[in-house]
Amino acid sequence: MDLRVRGFVFSRIPKWKRAMELTWLWIVLVRSASDNSFYSCKRYLRFSLDCSSVCLGSLKARPYTQEYTTFSDISLRNTSLAYLEGNVFDQMTNLKSLYLSNNFLESLDYRLFSKLKNLMHLDLRNNRLSNLEDRLFKNQKRLVHLLLANNRLTVLDTKVLSPLRSLKILDLSNNRFVCDCQLYPTFLWCQHRLLETNASCHLPVIYTESPWTVLEFQNCTASYMPKRTGQSASLAKLSDKTFLFSGACVSVLLVCVCVLVSVFCCRKFHRTPNRDNEIYSNLRQTEDG
Ligand SMILES: *[C@@H]1O[C@H](CO)[C@@H](O)[C@H](O)[C@H]1NC(C)=O
Ligand SMILES: *[C@@H]1O[C@H](CO)[C@@H](O)[C@H](O)[C@H]1NC(C)=O
Ligand SMILES: *[C@@H]1O[C@H](CO)[C@@H](O)[C@H](O)[C@H]1NC(C)=O
Repeated sequence: MDLRVRGFVFSRIPKWKRAMELTWLWIVLVRSASDNSFYSCKRYLRFSLDCSSVCLGSLKARPYTQEYTTFSDISLRNTSLAYLEGNVFDQMTNLKSLYLSNNFLESLDYRLFSKLKNLMHLDLRNNRLSNLEDRLFKNQKRLVHLLLANNRLTVLDTKVLSPLRSLKILDLSNNRFVCDCQLYPTFLWCQHRLLETNASCHLPVIYTESPWTVLEFQNCTASYMPKRTGQSASLAKLSDKTFLFSGACVSVLLVCVCVLVSVFCCRKFHRTPNRDNEIYSNLRQTEDG
């Protein structure tokens, strides 16, 4: 019996091994199709990755191979996304367009776009975003289109938008903005940049459904004014510098004046004893005479 078993095992090893290999391959294939990575998406040429309507749920960072880092556009529309790992796009440094619409995203990690310095189009419509991190768009100096319609934004700080120097289109339609003085700087920022956001108020109740232009009549005070950004910031820096410079000049001048005055005083002081001596000698002369 022992022998038979051994004979069976020895004669079966190659096939068994092959079966193992096949099983392994199958596991790898299935895993790659459902492992929440870009490997489950369709590639078009070297530039485009289409994951739309693939049920991903979440997306995790992988050490992707070279050909997965060259894309200039990625679609993740309707992929049931609820979670994106903060470094998931870190290797996609060529990315110009990113479509994340029609998902369940409630928040975005502040590092999510930090390596996407070439990003020009970002579509985040139809999600559940209620707030955006201050540093989220820190490196998106080239972003032209930012679509945030149909989310749950109640506030939007100017710190979020201020790095977006190239922004031409900002869609904020159908959010839940609270139109109070906290939102006023953002409203001003958009107005200043001539952005037609189509933002509307959800609260206070008297302004529900009104465009956020009602903020103009809220008499918000200067303490809520936006911090100077971009050009005005550099202007501010410039004026700071000139202020410092003129301050330095004034102090140098003051020192000079002080030195001059003290030199003058010293001389005067040194001269007076001489005169005293003169007088004294004159006196002595008269006394002598
Ligand atoms: C979204 O994806 C699901 C599959 O996950 C699909 O059945 C549905 O038709 C898609 N919806 C749209 C609008 O593309
Ligand atoms: C502006 O927003 C409203 C909802 O708040 C929406 O119904 C409308 O289609 C939007 N208009 C544009 C031009 O996006
Ligand atoms: C803003 O100020 C004007 C005049 O100073 C006043 O008539 C108006 O009621 C004020 N609006 C609010 C919302 O306080």
